[in-house]
Amino acid sequence: MERTFLAIKPDGVQRGLVGEIIRRFETKGFTLVGLKFLKVSRELAEQHYGVHRERPFFGSLVEFITSSPVVALVWEGDGVIASARKIIGATNPLTAEPGTIRGDFGLNIGRNLIHGSDAPETAQQEIALWFKDEELVSWQPHLTPWLHE
Ligand code: RTP
Ligand code: MG
Repeated sequence: MERTFLAIKPDGVQRGLVGEIIRRFETKGFTLVGLKFLKVSRELAEQHYGVHRERPFFGSLVEFITSSPVVALVWEGDGVIASARKIIGATNPLTAEPGTIRGDFGLNIGRNLIHGSDAPETAQQEIALWFKDEELVSWQPHLTPWLHE
């Protein structure tokens, strides 16, 4: 079963949007398999956003993500990686569609509320970076027959 990694960024936590953001993935029907609340270390932030190391915004991105706690999440479901990216919306909240998380709650590219893995390979890498195997819970929601034919 496909899994993706999401993180509610410091702005989402500080603005009291943790419940609202988690609700969107729960009510869609995806299955929560990992959750933790943590202050991100510089090392973890630099590894997580390593692909952007040479970009001009890398320093401020690492500063921001380590500035205040985040909620790290793993969700499971068919097509969850691409679907979560759609639910999250475009990187720049000003151009993100209304109805998406960034489109509904954000204004600024450096304060876009939530991270989501962008492909199967990055999802796998990010889940392994943020969670130990034993921190992920495989379970069968009773809702399954009401969500899947
Ligand atoms: P994320 O990785 O956080 O889910 O965001 P994303 O895939 O939509 O965007 P990505 O290109 O991976 O960029 C990572 C984060 O860097 C910040 N950013 N700032 N100032 C800029 O031009 C700029 N571009 C990107 C954003 O906070 C973005 O989420
Ligand atoms: Mg990205």
